[in-house]
Amino acid sequence: MSDELKLIAPTVELEESYRSYVAEVREADALFVPWVLGFNADEFPALIARLHEASEGRGIPKTFVPHTTFWTIDASGQIIGVANIRHELNENLLLEGGHIGYSIRPSLRGRGLATRQLALAVAEAGRRGIQRVLVVCERDNSASARVIAKNGGRLAGEVTSEETGKMMQRYWIEL
Ligand SMILES: CC(C)(COP(=O)(O)OP(=O)(O)OC[C@H]1O[C@@H](n2cnc3c(N)ncnc32)[C@H](O)[C@@H]1OP(=O)(O)O)[C@@H](O)C(=O)NCCC(=O)NCCS
Repeated sequence: MSDELKLIAPTVELEESYRSYVAEVREADALFVPWVLGFNADEFPALIARLHEASEGRGIPKTFVPHTTFWTIDASGQIIGVANIRHELNENLLLEGGHIGYSIRPSLRGRGLATRQLALAVAEAGRRGIQRVLVVCERDNSASARVIAKNGGRLAGEVTSEETGKMMQRYWIEL
């Protein structure tokens, strides 16, 4: 694997890499993070269209905000991570969703990739006019807490998730 990482828009060309990513996540994790990994991918072009539409605020539930999904690729073009940026915060996101959700391909974890991916995603949020980035993780997700702290995240408090009942930590990253 090469050293270079890049965020790209989802594309039909990377169907195989995406499917293997989702398969690894399904196997390794109890749930899909970021949540868009759970979108139906039976018709791959439809999935890509859905992700692009969500980025423009189309085809999303009324209570959702526009969100952009990036695939993080290495120099070989393999998808090594996925990040989802919420363009703004609604009440729920302000509390426990935050601006950015992300994961790293399970077979490539523990190499510093999440730290680098979050840096790229935060820069992307900045380009979209977000000056303070909220990132939320479960208190017992120490790897994610490290990733956020290494990107300048400052703990702003803890809340109990209404969805899962788990204790969540809220971090702000100032650009
Ligand atoms: C959390 C996650 C993104 C971390 O990805 P990663 O590429 O392994 O993270 P990094 O290699 O950049 O490691 C970041 C830090 O966490 C530490 N770390 C990695 N795995 C760890 C683990 N299982 N337990 C404790 N610390 C861990 C690393 O040592 C590193 O800290 P250090 O720099 O002080 O050594 C990845 O485990 C993942 O995709 N998890 C499932 C989805 C998820 O939880 N997303 C976050 C939602 S908020």
